[in-house]
Amino acid sequence: MRNSLLKLSLITGTALLLAACDRPADDVATKGAALAEEKGCLACHGLNGKGTAPTFPNINGQWASYLHKQLEKYRSGERQNMIMSAQAKGLSDEDIKILSRYYAAQ
Ligand code: HEC
Repeated sequence: MRNSLLKLSLITGTALLLAACDRPADDVATKGAALAEEKGCLACHGLNGKGTAPTFPNINGQWASYLHKQLEKYRSGERQNMIMSAQAKGLSDEDIKILSRYYAAQ
């Protein structure tokens, strides 16, 4: 009896912990997909981060920190590309954070 109570509380505890861990990830998934659509990223990188044509790089599964840095570089002009420099210009710090984490998780 005591043993099954312990098991039950362990299961409940784990489930609560998992639910708590899920929240930020869900947030990035929802906001990231909405932003990728709003900002037009999906036209070239898809919603899944796979380039929609050979000239558009796959960015899925890339390190979030790497994507973050590249977007900042495009925005500041340190890295230049006709398409991406224009794309990054309109992104806020928060947009860059969310989009980087979103595409890294695809
Ligand atoms: C019209 C097509 C197009 C759109 C729209 C677009 N990209 Fe890109 N993206 C590219 C191309 C082309 C490159 C490669 C540029 C280069 O050579 O530096 C690139 C490169 C990148 C890179 C760097 C990849 C690497 O491996 O270094 C990131 C990150 C990125 N895009 C994110 C985004 C995000 C986020 C958006 C939306 C805000 C977006 N892109 C919108 C075409 C596009």
